[in-house]
Amino acid sequence: QTVMATNVMFQPGHVTRGMRSMTFGHRGKFTGCTVWFTGLSGSGKTTISFAVENLLCSQGLPSYGLDGDNIRTGLNKNLGFSPNDREENIRRISEVSKLFADSGMVCLASFISPYAKDRERAREIHVESGLKFFEVYLSTPLEVCENRDVKGLYKKARDGQIKGFTGIDSAYEPPSNPSLVLDTSKFTVPECVEKIIDLLTANDVIP
Ligand code: PPS
Ligand code: ADP
Ligand code: MG
Repeated sequence: QTVMATNVMFQPGHVTRGMRSMTFGHRGKFTGCTVWFTGLSGSGKTTISFAVENLLCSQGLPSYGLDGDNIRTGLNKNLGFSPNDREENIRRISEVSKLFADSGMVCLASFISPYAKDRERAREIHVESGLKFFEVYLSTPLEVCENRDVKGLYKKARDGQIKGFTGIDSAYEPPSNPSLVLDTSKFTVPECVEKIIDLLTANDVIP
């Protein structure tokens, strides 16, 4: 059963976002935000988000990648892949992403996040806190993802060794109004990275 927190009161801090961003060393109009990558397994979420993280950090722009496989070894190791567990996975990461963005980082969240409602909630959580949120849909076709089969999971799913695999026997709901759509079978990794950087620049997130 779920126990809800009661008698809890929000405690406002004293540090403004401006003060916090100074602690990273001021770089022009830099502000924290979240870039949320969604797409099928093998669509390129980890590859692109980690490449963007590397590029930003190498330019002195604080950023941090939160990735499904990694978070599921720690914070969310008690969650599986049932619809309820995926919802709770995304709920927790939406809150964590908001904290990273609030701290002044470019937070790069790379989760399948198959349900539109959960991604909408992630956006709301950011917007309610005055933080920019960009949904990036990696629209790489299932056939391409399955041919890549980076971890051999599609084969296992087709063989019936994994039940409830996204795109095979578990739903993926594509975003209806993402900030950016990228089919990674049509572009190289550096081209995809450049499109993300352009998105951030155009939205005054990075100089
Ligand atoms: S979700 O749907 O957002 O909660 O998933 P996420 O936290 O991103 O974790 C996805 C990674 O878990 C591995 N994996 C599975 N994916 C989909 N369906 C099933 N049943 C499953 N079982 C394990 C897989 O490595 C996913 O990583 P990516 O990077 O997407 O390949
Ligand atoms: P996901 O995290 O969504 O499961 P991965 O990043 O693990 O996806 O896998 C994507 C695979 O596709 C990698 O092997 C990567 O090298 C390959 N790939 C080829 N072109 C691209 C591209 N333009 N963007 C991202 N990945 C690409
Ligand atoms: Mg991945």
